[in-house]
Amino acid sequence: MMHQPMSSLSQAVYNRDVRRLGINLNHWYVVARSSEVIDKPINIVLWEQAIALYRDRSGKIHALEDRCPHRQVKLSHGQVVGNELECTYHGWRFNANGECVAVPYLAANQKLPNCTIHHYPVREQDGFIWLFPGDVEKLHTNSIEPLGLPEWEHLNYIATVSVINCHAHYSYLIENLMDMYHGHLHQDLQAWAEAALQEIDENEHRVDAHYTAQSYYKIDKIWSISQLFFPALRQLHPEPLDVSYVYPHWVSTLGKDFKIYCLLCPINETQTKAYLIHFTSLNAFWRLHKLPVWFRRFIKNSLFGAAQKLLDGLVRQDVKMIEEEQQAYLQNSQRRNYELNRALVSVQRLMRIQVE
Ligand code: FES
Ligand SMILES: [Fe+2]
Repeated sequence: MMHQPMSSLSQAVYNRDVRRLGINLNHWYVVARSSEVIDKPINIVLWEQAIALYRDRSGKIHALEDRCPHRQVKLSHGQVVGNELECTYHGWRFNANGECVAVPYLAANQKLPNCTIHHYPVREQDGFIWLFPGDVEKLHTNSIEPLGLPEWEHLNYIATVSVINCHAHYSYLIENLMDMYHGHLHQDLQAWAEAALQEIDENEHRVDAHYTAQSYYKIDKIWSISQLFFPALRQLHPEPLDVSYVYPHWVSTLGKDFKIYCLLCPINETQTKAYLIHFTSLNAFWRLHKLPVWFRRFIKNSLFGAAQKLLDGLVRQDVKMIEEEQQAYLQNSQRRNYELNRALVSVQRLMRIQVE
């Protein structure tokens, strides 16, 4: 794709309707971390749908509409009994298919009420709970799969997780993540510098924006990890910086050393939850695979969260900007923005295509 003249770009981007776009439900969304769902049900909201997640006795995750059909209270207040979810109010029980299977005071001459609630396809994979809110028939005929994070279990990657909770439409978050020119905001955290957009690849599923940038970190010796803690050890050097909007999620790589995912759970038109997962690669240590697996797992687990300060800092700075953009839009949705990054044209185009 060639550079477009600036004027047409400014017009194409920031059509205000983007801020009111719905989501394409026919994808796997990330609704929780595995560690958030233990023995009690939890409530999550995905695009205005309240959902109760619970883990049954065998450890399997289930997702039911968070609404007891008896009196419309939240089922997530209840408890897990065997493989069923019991409502806290009168103790009616529901199985994983959302069928009422027990009422504690059912008289001998009464039948169980036929009051099935919606249940959602849900999977536990790579440390997260993935939920498919869309058309189940489409899920099976098109065999739609969750994005997946192969690095989560891989012994050569150290993970750090940060949660994003922002009062903004998801488009603001994705645009923030796809526009690497905002490294300016993070100068003090030294995440990357001097981004320059080189090329964009796009189709109806994804946008890949290829930048060049300067990275502060080089993970080529075992003690390089300490660069995450000590700024004095960092040294700028050029690296490719690739960011991808793989609808509805985001993935990026900075050189060979870092991979970051942002897994989205849009809550409603002005609220977005997301999980940011940062992986530091140890692939450069070619001798690592010679070490015993238990030791490698020990290293992986002990270094979990090594980039926490950096990641939380980035999130704090980004959320502030994103929420301010949303507020400005709510106060005056007619005011137009000026955009120079053509990757954002592609990003907005993809959002629209997916929803239409
Ligand atoms: S409201 Fe749930 S059992 Fe009565
Ligand atoms: Fe950022």
